[in-house]
Order: sequence, then C-alpha cells, then structure tokens
Amino acid sequence: MQLAVIGVGHVGLVTAACFAELGHQVVAVDQDTARIEGLQHGKMPFYEPELEPLVRRHLASQRLRVTTTIAEGVRQAQLIFICVGTPQRPDGSADLAAVEHVVCDIAQHLSDYRLIIEKSTVPVETGHWIERTLQRHVKAGVEFDVASNPEFLREGTAVHDFLHPDRIVLGVSSARAQQLLLQLYAPLKAPIVTTDVKSAELIKHASNAFLAMKISFINAIAQVCERVGADVTDVAEGMGLDPRIGRAFLNAGLGFGGFCFPKDLEAFIRIAEQVGYDFTLLKAVKQINEDQKRHFVRRIESALWVLSGKTIGVLGLAFKAGTDDMRFAPAIDIVRGLCEVGATVRAYDPQALSIANGLFRGLPVTLCNDPYAVAEGADCLAIVTEWPEFKTLDFARLKSLLRQPTIVDGRNLLDPEALRALGFQYVGIGRENPT
Ligand code: UDX
Repeated sequence: MQLAVIGVGHVGLVTAACFAELGHQVVAVDQDTARIEGLQHGKMPFYEPELEPLVRRHLASQRLRVTTTIAEGVRQAQLIFICVGTPQRPDGSADLAAVEHVVCDIAQHLSDYRLIIEKSTVPVETGHWIERTLQRHVKAGVEFDVASNPEFLREGTAVHDFLHPDRIVLGVSSARAQQLLLQLYAPLKAPIVTTDVKSAELIKHASNAFLAMKISFINAIAQVCERVGADVTDVAEGMGLDPRIGRAFLNAGLGFGGFCFPKDLEAFIRIAEQVGYDFTLLKAVKQINEDQKRHFVRRIESALWVLSGKTIGVLGLAFKAGTDDMRFAPAIDIVRGLCEVGATVRAYDPQALSIANGLFRGLPVTLCNDPYAVAEGADCLAIVTEWPEFKTLDFARLKSLLRQPTIVDGRNLLDPEALRALGFQYVGIGRENPT
C-alpha cells in the first residue's frame, strides 16, 4: 500500500521504517529540512536501537522516501498518518497546533479519497476536530475518512514493539477505513481491537495513565517499606505473580520520565477536567512521581549526612535505559536538587552525554566518559538510570576510586548483598535504610 507519514520524530520515523519493512511504500514528511537532509544521508536524528539499519535498508530499497513537502506524500498515499508532536502547553494540556497545521496542509492537496489517521497521542475528540477541519478546507466532493490508530511504542524497543505488537487498536467511523487498516496491518499477527474513533483515542490515554499509576503505586509501597523495614522488590514479586496484577511496571525507583507518561498524564487530567470530571486518582499519581525524585536526594543525604561540599557520582542520565532521551528525565531534577544544596556532580551515561551537556550548563556538573572517571574522588555513586552495563562494573575498582564506598541505587539495579560483601554501604529504594 502507498502511505505517507507526516512527522519524523520518535513515533513517525519508527512507523515509516516499520511499514516499509512490512512491504508498504512509504513517504515520510517533515518540515525540518536539516532532519530530512540528514536522513537522506543516513544520519539518524536520535538514537533508537535497530532503527538505523532499517531506515538505511529501506531508503536503499526505495520503499522509504523522505521529503519536506506534504504535497508529495498526499499525492501518492492512500493512507496518511499524522505523527507530529503534541507538546505540553503551560496549563498541561496538549498543544495541537502542529496537528491542525498539518491537517490544513493535507486538505489543500486532497483530490480524491484518502484515509487520514492520527497516531500521535492526542486528546479524545481530536479525530472529530480533524474531520471538521478537513471538511472546511477540502475541495467540494472530495471524500475522506479520519481514523485513530494509537501507537504503544516504548523508546529503546520501539522497532520491536511495532513489529510485534500486543494489540492493534483501530478507531474507525466507516467500513472502508476499517478495511484499509486491516489490509495495512495484515502482515502482523496481533489481536485487533476495532472501536469508534473516540474510544481508540481514550485507549491510548487510559493505557499510559494506568501504567503510570502502577509505577506510582509501587513507589508509594516503597515508602511504606522503608518505614517498616520491608523490601519492595519482594513485595512486587509477590504481588506480580497474581495474573490480575502482573509484575510489569512494578519496579520502584525514581518514577517515570520521558516524553510520554508525564505529558500524557497531565493532558489526561486536563481532558477529564474539561469534560467535568476531577481525576483525583491521576493527580495523586503525578504527585507521588514528583516526590520520588526529592526523596532520592534525601536518601543520598541520609547516607552521607551532609551534602554541601560533597561530590556525587551519577550513573545514568537518560530517562530510562536504551535511549539517549532526557526529556522529563528524573536525572534533571535530581542533579539540580543536588547542586541546589551545595553538592557537585560527576556524571556518566552511555548515550545521553551530548544532550546532558546542554542541560547542565552553568551548574557544578562534570560529564565523564566512563563510570570509573565518575567515581574518582566522589563521596558516593548514585544509580539514576537502569543501564544493564552498570550491573557488571568492576565494583572493587570503583571502591578504590571513591572517597566513601557508598552506593545509592535509585533503580534497585544492583545486588545489595554482593556490594556489602565488598565493603560498600548500599542504599536502595524501598528496601534498605541508609543508616
Ligand atoms: C511509554 C509507554 O510504555 C508506551 O506504550 C507509550 O507509547 C509511550 O510511553 P516510554 O516512555 O518509552 O513508553 O517508556 P516506558 O518503558 O514505558 O517507561 C516510562 C518510564 O517509567 C521510564 O522513566 C521508566 O524508567 C519508568 N518505569 C517503568 C519505572 O519507574 N518503573 C517500572 O516498573 C517501569
């Protein structure tokens, strides 16, 4: 099938490359000339495992083309995916200006039937607005349908998630749209949930909000564990074996970051407010998430007594492992929080160093090229991102470099017993007390 994907950010580029992989002809469009020129020369705009070879392969096979002109995409494609950003406005709601702009642009170039599909995470009723906007701008007699096909891609495993989905959600308002989408996804073996457009939009927000709730729930349990001397990792294990609960997203730590959960949660709270429902549950989820970062700084303080004048070695800056993304990363608030109370920071991340460089300018933060350089002269190591390679570091060597053999593990990544046997003071989240 002939497709256009408008917006080549995290969602759009993965979508475009994966549809090409499934055998479709894809034109990926973005107004960012530098980004498109970079892609034409095989340069990826961000780090995402498995994406680069896929993009290169399909640029070479010409199943994937990249361009800055929407007209080119709209002319050829039967299906047009909207994957532009929906950033947060100051009041927390989603900014839909880019979506509206793209829709107006698409409308100008429609000459016969097209299916326009929203894939960006958008508030419920966006589909309705897209339809109204198209109706206003298309030439008389030109038919179209609007559908919602939300993505559930995790950064770091986005290509795998796209090609092996748990479910495919199709929000449609006509049999024609449904048929086109079923044909599009025919190569993928996954349960398909077909709904009306609004329900599909809500499935995305409700799913993200629910996962965020699981994380905040276990972080709240971690708080109780610390107070009574229980271990949250065991509690999560015991809860998670109940299939009604499930073990996934019950890892206590520093809370959720990234460009999806914090933004989508906030937007969902606003959407509920606008339709007259006070979603207090989600407000609490958000509050617990904020508190968790401050709590971590207090954990470090309890381990070291005084933070002013101390050097904290931070391992991991990305909002999670497998990405260089630092948007809404817990590391940002944690590093700033440490600096505010007079500590200096040495930090390392396997992927996010160049992004971090811009974020921490003006703060007493030294970015290091490896974890051992971070440890040199530091009073403790703080694990902030759950990079698997941190598990296999040479801890004896790290101990010899640290001023104090202390590890505060914000992700419960390391083995407390092994570290204690090496002579470390180990502090986790919801499992060990600093003193
Ligand atoms: C998320 C959703 O998973 C995905 O379906 C959606 O389309 C986009 O948003 P992503 O933001 O890439 O994906 O990250 P995810 O793996 O879901 O993790 C989100 C955050 O929660 C990370 O900061 C992670 O460290 C944190 N997290 C996750 C926990 O703190 N504990 C957990 O148990 C799981």
